[in-house]
Amino acid sequence: MTGRSDFRFPPGFRWGASTSAYQIEGAANEDGRGPSIWDTLCRMKDRVDNGETGDVACDHYHRYREDVALMRGLGLNAYRFSVAWPRVLPRGRGAVNAAGLDFYDRLIDSLLEAEIEPWLCLYHWDLPQALQDLGGWASRDTAGWFADYAAVCARRYGDRVKNWATINEFSVFTLFAYAFGAGAPGISDRQEHLKAMHHVNLAHGAGVDVLRALVPGGSIGAVHSVQTCRPEDPANPEHCESAALFDELWNLAFPDAQLLGHYPPRIAALIEPYVQAGDMARICRPIDWFGLNHYAPMYSKPDDGNVWGCGWGAAPDDMPRTDIGWPMDPTAFRDVLLDLGKRYRLPVYVTENGFGSKTETGTDDPRRLAYLRDYIAAMGEALMAGADVRGYFVWSLLDNFEWNGGYAPRFGIVHVDYETQARTPKESARWYADFIRGQRGV
Ligand code: FCB
Repeated sequence: MTGRSDFRFPPGFRWGASTSAYQIEGAANEDGRGPSIWDTLCRMKDRVDNGETGDVACDHYHRYREDVALMRGLGLNAYRFSVAWPRVLPRGRGAVNAAGLDFYDRLIDSLLEAEIEPWLCLYHWDLPQALQDLGGWASRDTAGWFADYAAVCARRYGDRVKNWATINEFSVFTLFAYAFGAGAPGISDRQEHLKAMHHVNLAHGAGVDVLRALVPGGSIGAVHSVQTCRPEDPANPEHCESAALFDELWNLAFPDAQLLGHYPPRIAALIEPYVQAGDMARICRPIDWFGLNHYAPMYSKPDDGNVWGCGWGAAPDDMPRTDIGWPMDPTAFRDVLLDLGKRYRLPVYVTENGFGSKTETGTDDPRRLAYLRDYIAAMGEALMAGADVRGYFVWSLLDNFEWNGGYAPRFGIVHVDYETQARTPKESARWYADFIRGQRGV
């Protein structure tokens, strides 16, 4: 890594942090919130490490003021959060929950008072259980219900929130939920997965139309996980084919459909039975920015045990890894940023990037600090080479509920003591704050 940490990012660059509702809010049974598919999954045996749940999480529902103050203290000028669909529409559709809507009003107003720009993501994986009972994402109706939910949020918050994302990591949650059987609702079925993929794409398109109509001056994007996909053994044609299929499922199926108007070749023929006349035009709606979540290159090799036959491979032995084993390769990040610009021709906001650890204790996190420093330097290299990158949101502000991993993996730049809910900025947070100050010439 040749990283130049003295690179000056353009004025107006967003320096922020990302979180998601289920991972931090807690208050799962308060003020009329309905159950989500993650509440259900967490109660199933052996789905989440240590049987942990998001019931309390970081108690952000009650501590949001403190969290906003923390961000202000760090000098962040943007914050990406998600709205919990079951908090505002407990049954997914129909009657709204006034107390749930009020919570996001309070959060948004606190952010604005602190001069932190709110970036609202409508869906970060917590589908209302009531809609799962009607078929969830495997049912085409869910796309329409998503659009109705988007309208509720747009009408309520569109006066103050201008940056909107429809959905977080389309490919990741559909793959884990409908193919690998790990994420909620925990299904492994290729046809269900194909249906869910297409309906999630339809939901995005319908959501974009709603936001465009209801948010004056809105800037609308979608958040994709894009990770370089490499064969475990590049000399083995089966590994190469596995990596190519994985690449389509993970990296291409959603942005290609949404921005180029077609599915990638291996998926196109298989998904066709679920595509109705006019659907690709419904999905491919003009948007304003590409949200990139990037962590690590992925390695693939065939795996008969999964419904697609393509699975995880091992990274080369000499590849540096994070404390939870994810490969670290900032040059892959730089290259992804450059490639995205050429393929989709949209400004990019890095909506997630960060370092997970199961071994760190307290606030001493030199490896996260180094990761952020090197990845931000790689982003600077991409800008110097012509990439149109406009913001960076670290994942995550707080240690939080890391899905199937429960609370053991820590991604926060702020440490959370789950016994007391005390928040303490880690060394990486102090470094990030200094870095941002330096960028602003403060
Ligand atoms: C991403 C998710 C986010 C978090 C990070 C570590 O895939 O969007 O919620 O779990 O990974």
